[in-house]
Amino acid sequence: MFFMQKQIRWGILGLGRIARSFAEGLKHTSNGTLHCVGSRDLNKAMTFAKEWKVAHSSGSYEELAERQDIDAVYVATPHSEHARLATLCMNHGKAVLCEKPMAVNALQVDSMIRCAKENEVLLMEGMWTRFAPLMVEIRKILRSGALGEIKTLQADFGFRPQSRDPNSRLFSKTLAGGSMLDIGVYPISLSFMVFGKPSKIITDCHLGETGVDEQAAYVFKYPENQMAVLHSSLQAETAQEAFISGTEGTLKIHKQCWRPQKITVTKKGLEPEVISMPFEGNGFNYEAESFGKLFLAGEKESPIMPLEESLSIHQVMDEIREKWGMVYPMDEE
Ligand SMILES: NC(=O)c1ccc[n+]([C@@H]2O[C@H](COP(=O)([O-])OP(=O)(O)OC[C@H]3O[C@@H](n4cnc5c(N)ncnc54)[C@H](OP(=O)(O)O)[C@@H]3O)[C@@H](O)[C@H]2O)c1
Repeated sequence: MFFMQKQIRWGILGLGRIARSFAEGLKHTSNGTLHCVGSRDLNKAMTFAKEWKVAHSSGSYEELAERQDIDAVYVATPHSEHARLATLCMNHGKAVLCEKPMAVNALQVDSMIRCAKENEVLLMEGMWTRFAPLMVEIRKILRSGALGEIKTLQADFGFRPQSRDPNSRLFSKTLAGGSMLDIGVYPISLSFMVFGKPSKIITDCHLGETGVDEQAAYVFKYPENQMAVLHSSLQAETAQEAFISGTEGTLKIHKQCWRPQKITVTKKGLEPEVISMPFEGNGFNYEAESFGKLFLAGEKESPIMPLEESLSIHQVMDEIREKWGMVYPMDEE
């Protein structure tokens, strides 16, 4: 009998902070259930499973990847582990939603894409911002030409973490810490959504005691002379806003632009228009729902977060780090 699958059975790999957000997000999807959680520590997995009412838990990532009763894995570990663990899961036939940034460098992303193609599985970078309903609306506004020709983008993401533990994933070089990979990737990804790949990059950063960028500034220039001015910081809270300017108007994404729920659109000669689209759920539901639809339709890639674009973003971040002279251990593997 022909059976049409309607639900995707998820596994989460790595049970830290964001795993909890994703577990919460899944509760607000129509097509996903959390079936198993995997940790390096079985007790931790069992405790998480009990708290979130998940049927199964695994005490190793390998065990989770090998399970036959899981369709897709959400990789929620530090960036340093993304490529290795996504590859492990894909080699066991699992679709993978990999947290942002997709990996540490473009070489890793390239090998992940090849692995997805070889195994014929769906792979996507978890740039959840792109799936927010308001971001769908923003893309419509930009495409409509209502703001004229888009000329500039300003965007930033900075905050001061409570813990400045040098061994934590934000500051440790072995865990690929630093502001660009962790939060700079949001404004950088937004700049790709608005303008595509830059033709020229001007950048500088401040390297902290652990050797990772604690603050960075990026100026991108494009073939038709558009400009993006971007900033990331782990030293202080910034505006966390984005401002897109065209020849006929402007669009401001209010704080926090990386989880967009309110914009102000001002067209030349007209009153500003405020558009609010509060999340239904915690926001992670939108990327999970979209991923689920793709999976159930047999797709291997997302048109909203294409693999070539993830690769291109990482090539740009590699170029930026090269300008800074900042190398991660994974660059030398
Ligand atoms: N989309 C977003 O808004 C958002 C927000 C925050 C973070 N993130 C991304 O999500 C990923 C995880 O961030 P997080 O804040 O959840 O980190 P976290 O709280 O430190 O948790 C990461 C988990 O990864 C596992 N892990 C595997 N290898 C590890 C290692 N060598 N060192 C430490 N932990 C290791 C651990 O799980 P087990 O002990 O269970 O194995 C750990 O609990 C990062 O790539 C980050 O960029 C996304």
